[in-house]
Amino acid sequence: MADLGAIAIDASTCTRCTLSGSRTQVVFGMGDPGADLLFVGEGPGADEDAAGLPFVGRSGKLLDRLIGEEMGRTRADCYIANVVKCRPPDNRDPRPDEMAACRPWLELQLDHVDPRVVVTLGNVATRALLGGTEGITRLRGRTYPWRNRVLVPTYHPAAVLRGNPEAMAGMRADLVRAALALSAAQREPTG
Ligand code: URA
Repeated sequence: MADLGAIAIDASTCTRCTLSGSRTQVVFGMGDPGADLLFVGEGPGADEDAAGLPFVGRSGKLLDRLIGEEMGRTRADCYIANVVKCRPPDNRDPRPDEMAACRPWLELQLDHVDPRVVVTLGNVATRALLGGTEGITRLRGRTYPWRNRVLVPTYHPAAVLRGNPEAMAGMRADLVRAALALSAAQREPTG
């Protein structure tokens, strides 16, 4: 089975959807390929498109801060991916056909990293993995069994940055939830 580095090289020339025509570069993902914790965001923004790395702009800075404060980790101890690997123009939501075309890359990341806990950031990522149409405000605040793993939905950091103090408190609580799920997973044999 090809390793994630080889898969990222394959993905770097992907033309499975029209986002390939407007991207600067593919933002495949980053972090520890053996991490027990994987974050899934929506898709690259302008900063990520320029850097080739996920969550390097304002949202990413907040994510780093909250991972540190609530989980005692850095992004090097996690793997960070997005539902789509190329920037949607004008930061619009990715379309269903784009998410479907990109899905095999995310599935390869999930298979290879094989995390115990997956944290989905915002509506797009949460619906992409959990299915359904329910919004993040209703879905967050609990954990979900998902593919023999634990899924923890939380707000997208961009929503927290828009200045809602309840979202900040909610995201902090969700990350504590994820940390507890990781501790519980460490006490159990892997399945
Ligand atoms: N927002 C996302 O959903 N993903 C990124 O990588 C950056 C911002």
